[in-house]
Amino acid sequence: MRARGLRAIVASALLIAGAAIAAPLAAFAAPAGDGPHLGVASCGGTTCHGRQEATGPRVRQNEILVWQDPTSLHGAHARAWSLLKLPRAQAIGRRLGIADVSASAECINCHGDPAPARGSQWRQADGVGCEACHGGGGRWLASHAAVGATHADNVARGMWDMARPRVRAGVCLDCHFGSGVPGQFVSHRIMAAGHPRLAFELDLFTALQSHHDEDDDYAARKGVAGGVKLWAVGQALAVQRALTLLPTRAAGAFPEFVFFDCRSCHRTFSDDPAVALVARRNGWRPTLPGQPVWNDENLLVLQAAADVVAPAQAKALLAKSRAFHAALATDRAAAARAAAALAASAGDLAAAFESARFDRAQTFALLDAVLVTDADAWTDYQGGAQAVMAADTLLAALVNSGAVDRARAAALRPDLDRAYAAAKDANRWQPAELRAALAVVAAKVRALR
Ligand code: HEC
Ligand code: HEC
Ligand code: HEC
Ligand code: HEC
Repeated sequence: MRARGLRAIVASALLIAGAAIAAPLAAFAAPAGDGPHLGVASCGGTTCHGRQEATGPRVRQNEILVWQDPTSLHGAHARAWSLLKLPRAQAIGRRLGIADVSASAECINCHGDPAPARGSQWRQADGVGCEACHGGGGRWLASHAAVGATHADNVARGMWDMARPRVRAGVCLDCHFGSGVPGQFVSHRIMAAGHPRLAFELDLFTALQSHHDEDDDYAARKGVAGGVKLWAVGQALAVQRALTLLPTRAAGAFPEFVFFDCRSCHRTFSDDPAVALVARRNGWRPTLPGQPVWNDENLLVLQAAADVVAPAQAKALLAKSRAFHAALATDRAAAARAAAALAASAGDLAAAFESARFDRAQTFALLDAVLVTDADAWTDYQGGAQAVMAADTLLAALVNSGAVDRARAAALRPDLDRAYAAAKDANRWQPAELRAALAVVAAKVRALR
């Protein structure tokens, strides 16, 4: 159900350029000590993850079937490489001067498993295989299903601890935002050649590709972070990622454009004085007229989350984000310093969120912050999309924890869909429409309390 609105946002995203990225860049997320990647075939077999039904005693064991599902977003990762053979991807390659995108390092580090070392069953055609997210099986494949093997044992042998919000966010962001690894970045050049904009929200996207059950057994083995925590940590680490990458990426003489709000450059203009200017004031950031606007979709959501969950840190975050927006208009060195300070705050918040409880009252307060208190922050369609995804995620969390009745929450679906629709098309983006839709959602959410 949640996929429908998301599809609208993702499918309507602007469509791509690829100056070879020269700076030597550090990997971000891949937890250290990744072993060789053995390939999806090494996870198969009916006694392993290749069952036709989810009948496993502990884990479902039909994970491969779900990961391959041709009928839904669940199968997106299995299709990630093969889609590079399709006309849309090949056309991107032609515009960039890449002969075969399915073999290009500019594409396959995200549309495939960027394995550092490979076993004999590893196949490029598997796309984003199991080990792109769970880590190379080389050092834990044999032992991880043994009697008595604990999650901690597996993690100690190099399986990535994807149950931890911080680790999961890092792994997903590598491809759904970009990383310092060469080729793991959709630059403005690539977008101007036809690549869709990358929209991401950790909890929602986890739900859309999930192949596991968070049942009692799971909770006992790994613990369940909960949707709100995932959402909050995901926002904090997205902010940190963008700010950390900023000084490392350039588009010729300019800083990389993808960090900025697309619509601050891409809109119509006229010399006719009778035509009203379209720039929208946003009291959340001191931005001078005519200056590209930093894409603060995650920053704004992070601010809302901090206001509710970590008020003391929230004040410092707001001050640093204002200083960063102001520094962008000063010079590159000042911007880099302010970016580093803000990135550090975002990192601290991610840590604070990991140990926060996110109970019923806080989740309602978060909904209020996103839908009401910050309603005037959503002047850009990218921020608008984050606001709707946040509402969707927070409501789903309330339902999943039993705090809100499922049928009553389902009654809000048409209103959420209207809000998704308002943030769907960059060219028809009218913040007032989104605000109106969010206000309706807010009123109904209040009745759920
Ligand atoms: C930083 C990681 C990354 C890089 C680098 C990257 N992509 Fe993508 N690509 C993605 C993600 C993530 C999506 C899914 C976007 C969404 O729908 O949310 C995507 C979507 C696409 C789509 C649309 C697929 C669809 O289902 O409609 C095409 C086509 C595509 N990429 C081609 C390419 C080509 C060609 C290159 C190299 C020039 C490339 N990509 C480089 C991450 C990347
Ligand atoms: C896009 C990232 C991604 C890919 C690709 C992926 N997984 Fe997962 N997987 C996750 C996440 C996130 C979880 C939930 C967190 C956790 O329990 O580790 C998960 C959970 C699991 C679990 C449940 C563990 C439990 O304790 O209940 C199994 C088993 C699993 N994955 C196997 C696989 C297999 C096999 C493949 C390949 C067919 C695969 N995964 C591909 C991200 C991924
Ligand atoms: C190695 C790169 C990579 C990693 C890591 C990765 N993804 Fe993806 N993901 C992609 C690409 C590329 C696509 C687009 C494939 C397509 O359109 O078929 C995609 C598509 C998706 C989609 C379908 C959405 C859409 O609009 O197409 C979801 C949901 C998703 N990923 C969730 C996640 C989550 C959650 C994580 C972390 C647990 C994750 N991904 C990690 C590369 C990656
Ligand atoms: C700082 C200004 C700026 C920002 C911010 C910006 N762009 Fe651009 N974009 C440009 C310029 C300049 C061009 C080249 C225009 C031309 O060739 O006429 C361009 C070209 C494009 C094109 C090709 C258009 C065409 O018809 O050929 C696409 C698509 C695009 N950008 C997408 C995006 C997306 C998506 C974002 C946000 C993630 C974005 N841009 C952010 C300035 C910007």
